[in-house]
Amino acid sequence: MEDQAEGLRKLMRENSKNTRVIAVSSGKGGVGKTNISINLAIAYAKLGKRVVVLDADLGLANVNVVMGIIPKFNLYHVIRKQKRLKDIMIDTDYGVKIVAGASGFSKIANLTVEERENFIEDLEDLSFADIIIVDTGAGVSDNVLSFISAADDAIIVTTPEPTAITDAYGIIKIIATEVDNSDLGIKLIVNRVKTVTEGKKVSERVINIASQFLNMKIDYLGYIYDDPTVAASVLKQRPFFDIDENSKASICIKHIIGRLENVEYKEGGGFSKFLKKFFTRKDNEY
Ligand SMILES: Nc1ncnc2c1ncn2[C@@H]1O[C@H](COP(=O)(O)OP(=O)(O)OP(=O)(O)O)[C@@H](O)[C@H]1O
Ligand SMILES: [Mg+2]
Repeated sequence: MEDQAEGLRKLMRENSKNTRVIAVSSGKGGVGKTNISINLAIAYAKLGKRVVVLDADLGLANVNVVMGIIPKFNLYHVIRKQKRLKDIMIDTDYGVKIVAGASGFSKIANLTVEERENFIEDLEDLSFADIIIVDTGAGVSDNVLSFISAADDAIIVTTPEPTAITDAYGIIKIIATEVDNSDLGIKLIVNRVKTVTEGKKVSERVINIASQFLNMKIDYLGYIYDDPTVAASVLKQRPFFDIDENSKASICIKHIIGRLENVEYKEGGGFSKFLKKFFTRKDNEY
């Protein structure tokens, strides 16, 4: 894993010094990774950030579907050297660019050395971005671990469901044992909560177990309410943050960005006020 991630990480660090790479992962599938990736990206874009969402997810409701986009080319063509990454990047109506995933991509661990090198070289095409959000898909394939190894932050998503919590702990444990990236910040989002307390309880459970058994520090990034506008937005194929910036789920996304950026988002102050704070903050560098 170390070797595999080495080049990727080096490149991300050297060529993307100002790029923050955020991997969004989970143990259990269907907990909200894709929706969180896209809506975080859109919220960041509204703050003036250049954002790319890289889809490494093989699920059905993937990035382009949730955005209502049918891509002509995807990562498969990049790996096969038929296209450059910059050629397959798609501009969206939401101020963010996306790179569509490929099923062949799940086999990144099995790529030939040459194929992997091609791909890693091509990642340079994304170095213009301030933020790259990688929707890694669920579980712990080598592909997922490569991206986590190369990232600045790994956001682990869970829901309050016991199976999702157990699997969140499972992926954190694998990160602890297999990912050699001491700079990695592991963060937790509890999605689909009914109450603030529910989010807090679930996060404490995961954080305490990880601390006790793995000696790992996990930061609680916050919760997202179970909100019917999310499922409705998926049906409409239009991200919920774009439909209604003030829906319950959207407000949670704003709080999460606040925590990612160490700026407190106050409800009622408006996103523009938050934006001002965001840009006037002294340590606005990654
Ligand atoms: N906060 C929420 N409130 C209500 N419904 C939600 C919320 N988050 C996710 N959902 C529902 O869960 C479904 C799955 O979400 P999403 O596709 O983002 O999960 P995923 O983790 O990316 O799944 P996969 O593992 O298959 O890639 C959504 O289509 C939506 O219906
Ligand atoms: Mg998904």
